Amino acid sequence: MRLESLSLQDFRNYEQVSLELHPGLNVFVGENAQGKTNLLEAIYVLSLSKSYRAAHDQDLIRQGALRAQVTGRVRKLAALEVGFVLSHTDRKRLLVNGKTTTAHYFVGNLNTVLFSPDSLQLVKGSPSERRRFLDIQICQVDPVYRQTLLEYQRVVRQRNSLLKAAQENRAQLSQLPAWDQQLVHLGTKVMLRRWAVVARLQEHTMAIHGQISREQEELKLVYHPFFAQSAPKQAQQDYGEEELNDIFWQQLQFWRAEELRRGYTLVGPQRDDLLFFVNGLDLKTFGSQGQQRSAVLACILAELELMYGETGEYPVVLLDDVMSELDQGRRLQLLTLLNAKAQTIVTTTSLASFSQDLLQRAAVYTIQRGRIV
Ligand SMILES: Nc1ncnc2c1ncn2[C@@H]1O[C@H](COP(=O)(O)OP(=O)(O)O)[C@@H](O)[C@H]1O
Ligand SMILES: [Mg+2]
Repeated sequence: MRLESLSLQDFRNYEQVSLELHPGLNVFVGENAQGKTNLLEAIYVLSLSKSYRAAHDQDLIRQGALRAQVTGRVRKLAALEVGFVLSHTDRKRLLVNGKTTTAHYFVGNLNTVLFSPDSLQLVKGSPSERRRFLDIQICQVDPVYRQTLLEYQRVVRQRNSLLKAAQENRAQLSQLPAWDQQLVHLGTKVMLRRWAVVARLQEHTMAIHGQISREQEELKLVYHPFFAQSAPKQAQQDYGEEELNDIFWQQLQFWRAEELRRGYTLVGPQRDDLLFFVNGLDLKTFGSQGQQRSAVLACILAELELMYGETGEYPVVLLDDVMSELDQGRRLQLLTLLNAKAQTIVTTTSLASFSQDLLQRAAVYTIQRGRIV
């Protein structure tokens, strides 16, 4: 799929911009703090209904303006328009073809994959970043998963409040079984879906990483469930829903006293992780920076293939200032691989990272203080 055009009104530091995008490579060049990331952020919100870097939707409204509006025309088999309106006085409005809709129907119309310097933390950073990496791609292609995940997160929050309250008043514990039931039911669904996606990602990363490392190294992705520590043998197997349910209940028993003592939930996929191994060694601990970068690159490219497999369309790829982070070889590999498949929107402070050959086939825009000049 591609984003054919984009218009921003009072979004971040943009007053008013409308532009047509190239179906292949789009390069936005500009100095720091001119609005490069803001532009990609707008596209990201069109895709996922909220920003990855704003605490409040209102932060996205241009200082001094009352409302922000962003619209994009998407082309896949059919054409459609997605948009959103933010205001200081009303609730956020998500729009598909001009009609207000819910996030449930909004997410998935425009699929994106974002690669930013923060993505390089995927291997080294905290488990929550790796869970997010998985969840963001699954949510875009599977609205049912998105709903299950949101529901599950609500259950964890409620259950946490209950455990906290029970520290003061044991009588509260009578409500716990009802929450346990939901925790296990929804948590199992979340885990099974992630597990399946990791298996599919694994096939793609293996192939892509082989190319990147010239078949010198083998990258392996392993889903690491929350019970891997307390029941390591169980963590290595493949499970059906019923078996996983049973383990979940056992874990609840096992951690019950500790949960009561600490006052929050200790079991469930909010504590799962994703591990990376290169030639059998844990990449987080033993990998060089170069190896970690290759792995991240392979994962992002694999994400593309996964989404293609699920929807029949490649997502739009957003590359925020990553060219300078990659060496010449990886840079070229990335852009060449992408160019053949997916519409790519890149920001950079310097065109020097791009070959003449690539630039000739790209649309190049200069961003200056929230304007495309
Ligand atoms: N809500 C807002 N209203 C006006 N300006 C904003 C808003 N949010 C961020 N900015 C401005 O946007 C600029 C940063 O844009 P950004 O896209 O992150 O820069 P870069 O080009 O380095 O990626 C800063 O000058 C910041 O002050
Ligand atoms: Mg930036």
